[in-house]
Amino acid sequence: MILHTISTIRKGSAFFLPYVEKKSYLCTPIGMIDQETIQRIMDAARIEEVIGDFVSLRKRGANHIGCCPFHNEKTPSFYVSPSKGIFKCFGCGEAGDVVKFLMKHEHYTYPEALRWLAQKYNIEIQEEEQTEEQKERQNERDALFHVSEFAQKYFADLLYNDEMGRAVGLSYFHSRGLSDEVIKNFGLGYCLDEWSSFTDYARKNGYSDAVLEKTGLTIFKEDTHKSYDRFRGRVMFPIYSISGRVLGFSGRVLSSEKQAAKYVNSPDSDIYNKSRILYGLYQARTAISKANKCFLVEGNIDVISMHQSGVENTVASCGTSLTTEQIRLIKRYTPNVTVLYDGDSAGIKAALRAVNLLFAEGMHVRCVLFPDGEDPDSYAQKYGSTALQDYLATHEDNFVIFKTRVLLDGVKNDPIRKAELVKETVDTIALVPDLIERTEYIAQCAHLLDVPEEALSSELAKAVNRNRLKSYEDEKKEQNTQSTQNNQSEQSTPVVPTTPEPSSTLSLPVDPSERHLIQLLLNYGEQTITQIVPADDGSKQEYRYTVAQAIVAKLQADELSFTDPLCQRIYDYFANALAQGQSPDASYFITVDDESLRSFAISLMLDTFRISDTWRQKQIFVPSLEDNLQTDLEETILAFQLKCVNDRINDNARRFREVKDDEQMMLLLAEKKQLIDLRRQIGQALHRVID
Ligand code: CTP
Ligand code: MN
Repeated sequence: MILHTISTIRKGSAFFLPYVEKKSYLCTPIGMIDQETIQRIMDAARIEEVIGDFVSLRKRGANHIGCCPFHNEKTPSFYVSPSKGIFKCFGCGEAGDVVKFLMKHEHYTYPEALRWLAQKYNIEIQEEEQTEEQKERQNERDALFHVSEFAQKYFADLLYNDEMGRAVGLSYFHSRGLSDEVIKNFGLGYCLDEWSSFTDYARKNGYSDAVLEKTGLTIFKEDTHKSYDRFRGRVMFPIYSISGRVLGFSGRVLSSEKQAAKYVNSPDSDIYNKSRILYGLYQARTAISKANKCFLVEGNIDVISMHQSGVENTVASCGTSLTTEQIRLIKRYTPNVTVLYDGDSAGIKAALRAVNLLFAEGMHVRCVLFPDGEDPDSYAQKYGSTALQDYLATHEDNFVIFKTRVLLDGVKNDPIRKAELVKETVDTIALVPDLIERTEYIAQCAHLLDVPEEALSSELAKAVNRNRLKSYEDEKKEQNTQSTQNNQSEQSTPVVPTTPEPSSTLSLPVDPSERHLIQLLLNYGEQTITQIVPADDGSKQEYRYTVAQAIVAKLQADELSFTDPLCQRIYDYFANALAQGQSPDASYFITVDDESLRSFAISLMLDTFRISDTWRQKQIFVPSLEDNLQTDLEETILAFQLKCVNDRINDNARRFREVKDDEQMMLLLAEKKQLIDLRRQIGQALHRVID
């Protein structure tokens, strides 16, 4: 009989661990940073702080939650556990530790992520000077990041430490009313008005022409074989990623000559993509989170000027019209956007275009119109910070009304244009996700446009339906393309039998008793239980074992296994480690490469998913209360055994239906009887009557 014992723990027997094939599980890549430094970095890093730099998190119980930055969502399903140092999105399955987060989010390599953390937490990394050869070997993106940062430092340095830099660059910024504090905060700089002084300096420092060309810092003329600095003679605005890496530049001309473009920007490259970047977001992100609101302006100087005036939650779209990607960047921090624009008509038109996109992303949009000819910067310079803040506070308007008012100006008494305006207004209102907001807008616009409210409402209903149909069709299209992609990849890659069945990453359809057992292993595996058992001679024998030892010993004695392949793999890791005399460490799964395994293990480590609802309803078992560890352990193992016996009873019944000869039938019946008897015993042990 396979299930020959009910609980060795109850009987108080010691544990015997049979030999299991050795596998090396306990190694992590180290890279160029030594293990001790890695440990110091990991000890210092606080996951909720790091992730909080990129995602707006709220505390909920032991965890922090927010909207997942790896997929688009409206209700938060992204969990961060400070005590365990892990994150997990229950929407898309992304999971890992703080390093994994940075690698995924910032596209860092492993050493890059560690360096980022080291910098944040002021931990020194001893590194060797890089040789020329190493520099060349560095991957391309890395090189682009590197030279961009190098250039930023160079330009910023000239501003204060070079005679021309001070005389031309710095005095320009000062003449625009910028303080040294914001100049430094935004990393502003100056590129000398010479043909190639930057390029020469970069070459001298070992940067290759290829890299200089790719970042656009240097322009190479094919016909003349000449090269020169793209930004020569301009003041420099570095453009940062959310995490503060320099991605590119915007350079403003100083003279008012008409020939030169006012702004020259870095061309798109592997690291710089203007439609996915917002100027000032790095400096503004904390303030945006705090204020739960983001101001959107047009120019770089406006961002800096607002910042200097104490309105730090301000960003600009770097010389492009606002894109969906940029809106999603904002949405990580807040759903509230206030668009600010100049009173001139070009400004208004640009802002109007942006708004439908903002609505489509479910943002709450408000706007502030500045007096004709003024922008946030000129207003602040003219009237001061307090006046600017007052103006913003008193001139915020809801966008639909504003748009209607602006457009109405151009309509006069032309009935055709008025009909167009009605349609245009209704189309915008139809994008507002909130029904009550929509109804309010309709009432206000009906009044403004002088048309009956019912007429607008019925137009609105049509527009809303059109949008629904469209998003339904878009979704279908997306699904189709996804399934074609899947088919293609199936054809092109041979089937590799590594992970069986990608099971249970998101919704955890695993049997509760399997899950509970694995949860105990992961969360309490190394905890010690002391048990005192009276011996026959009246003396007392003390047993000490860890939860992991107990589980492994029990399952091995009964030769039990898991139905779920991921549960089995987690269990195997513990069993193998113990067999090798090592202490298994659940944090192995936080960094394991296999994504489905990592995601699954991490969901089981998060408290939220600890207790299965069915078990809780039946009130049989509340797992993992630390003071009740031993009882939990016993009950969890019993529940698991019960499940295994039930599986076997089902299997027995299946075989019974198929079997033909009498002798076999008798054997099966005998086995069934034994199994049912066993089930009764386990059931009694579980204080629960079955049948
Ligand atoms: N812009 C650009 N290329 C241009 C002009 C403008 O990329 N040739 C972008 C810049 O990002 C600029 C923004 O559009 O910041 C707004 O342009 P504008 O209002 O003309 O510039 P300001 O930043 O307001 O500059 P300033 O106040 O110095 O005139
Ligand atoms: Mn301006």
